[in-house]
Amino acid sequence: MANLTIRKLDDAVRDELRLRAARSGRSVEDEVRVILREAAQGVAPEALEPTPQLALTPRNPIPRVTLIIGGGIAAYKALDLIRRLKERGSEVRCVLTKAAQRFVTPLAASALAHNRIYTDLFDPQSEFDAGHIRLARDSDLIVVAPATADLMAKMAHGHADDLASAILLATNRPILLAPAMNPLMWSNAATARNVAQLKRDGVTMIGPEAGEMAERNEAGLGRMAEPTQIADAADKFLRPPIAQTLQGRRVLITAGPTHEPIDPVRYIANRSSGKQGYAIAAAARAAGAEVTLISGPVDLANPAGVNVIRIESARAMLDAVEAALPCDVAIFAAAVADWRVASEGAQKIKKNGSLMPTLTLVENPDILATVSRRAAGRPRLVIGFAAETENLLGNAAAKIARKGCDWIVANDVSPATGIMGGDRNTVHLLRRDSIDSEAWPDMSKQDVARTLIARITTHLETT
Ligand SMILES: Cc1cc2nc3c(=O)[nH]c(=O)nc-3n(C[C@H](O)[C@H](O)[C@H](O)COP(=O)(O)O)c2cc1C
Repeated sequence: MANLTIRKLDDAVRDELRLRAARSGRSVEDEVRVILREAAQGVAPEALEPTPQLALTPRNPIPRVTLIIGGGIAAYKALDLIRRLKERGSEVRCVLTKAAQRFVTPLAASALAHNRIYTDLFDPQSEFDAGHIRLARDSDLIVVAPATADLMAKMAHGHADDLASAILLATNRPILLAPAMNPLMWSNAATARNVAQLKRDGVTMIGPEAGEMAERNEAGLGRMAEPTQIADAADKFLRPPIAQTLQGRRVLITAGPTHEPIDPVRYIANRSSGKQGYAIAAAARAAGAEVTLISGPVDLANPAGVNVIRIESARAMLDAVEAALPCDVAIFAAAVADWRVASEGAQKIKKNGSLMPTLTLVENPDILATVSRRAAGRPRLVIGFAAETENLLGNAAAKIARKGCDWIVANDVSPATGIMGGDRNTVHLLRRDSIDSEAWPDMSKQDVARTLIARITTHLETT
């Protein structure tokens, strides 16, 4: 049998193969074998990879962003932007200008993007098939952040003497610029002319904002927009707008882990990242709801327009939930610690020779059960999450009965799934009034959120 040299495939096919292999937990070679075997058996490609129920973009099932990082001080914020774009489920391919590489390293960008980095127009590895044209066309959106005065001048005049400007000239995809520069550079007549020209050419801009500059004693218009704002603006290109189906509804969401103190410096926690709950809060807000998000300690930015209350312990989360009631829909996505230490040390517990401290645990309040069983002021729809590592559907069904909630979103959080802390999720939706469960295909946490909001809308409209 002939050997297949994966290196000889073009980048897009290779990337797709790697993605499929990662999703199915196989090596790339094994994934190729599976595809060939299935093809020989006449299995349609659609059957190999179920399409999410939501059409995401007109072009790619996973939105693909080419992020061009220009050579300005704000390049360090572009590293955070990579994370924000990935959090929202996009694949990110980064291009660094020569000047950008003086501010951030390709290695850092590559590690955050989980992708190779492009820097050189004359890179033989990517140019054997005109890689700059591929980067320009095979993207859903091109983001330039920071967009330097120099890059904007080149764009406005149609220059193409490096990889970034060649991509920007060769693309037929939407372009989002996040300018960042010294206020005098921004207000210079030449920059103003270039900005006006680029707007006429159909380029979208976000920022710059007013504020302190990196230069000492300088302030004014020229700060790059925050990465979350840029990612929100990118979302408008990458995803169809969510219909305002939850206008006038109050939605309460919990997210993240809780921290249960052992002493002033130590705590018991879990690996929840809060990404799923935050995505649901953003989707509910986008659907027009008034949203309160009660969040444990996470490293995520507040979703725009959402009332975020940050707490640490399970007891503080319950207090915040009760204070936020009444609401129409309550979604409990937080991974609340089941137990806490019975008596928290007032001072840091010290090592004491061979004597080991004993931690006595007591049960935390059950927030989902408490709200589900409220006699007065129970939300119309109470949704819990079940994070299981075994017997997923059985445990989730038992949880509905035990807690008295209406729906459970169940997911397998065994380490091999990469769901806890990851950007994608595979969930089942179980309802108290139905013996059937819905299995949703693997999708980004944003698309799980959108699908859940769609189900909630239907429920509120039909019951
Ligand atoms: C320390 C330092 C900071 C700079 N910051 C900016 C900036 O914030 N915005 C900008 O437009 N140019 C800035 N520049 C100038 C750009 O680096 C320079 O114009 C470069 O040619 C831009 O290349 P690029 O547009 O290909 O990335 C800075 C230069 C230095 C040395």
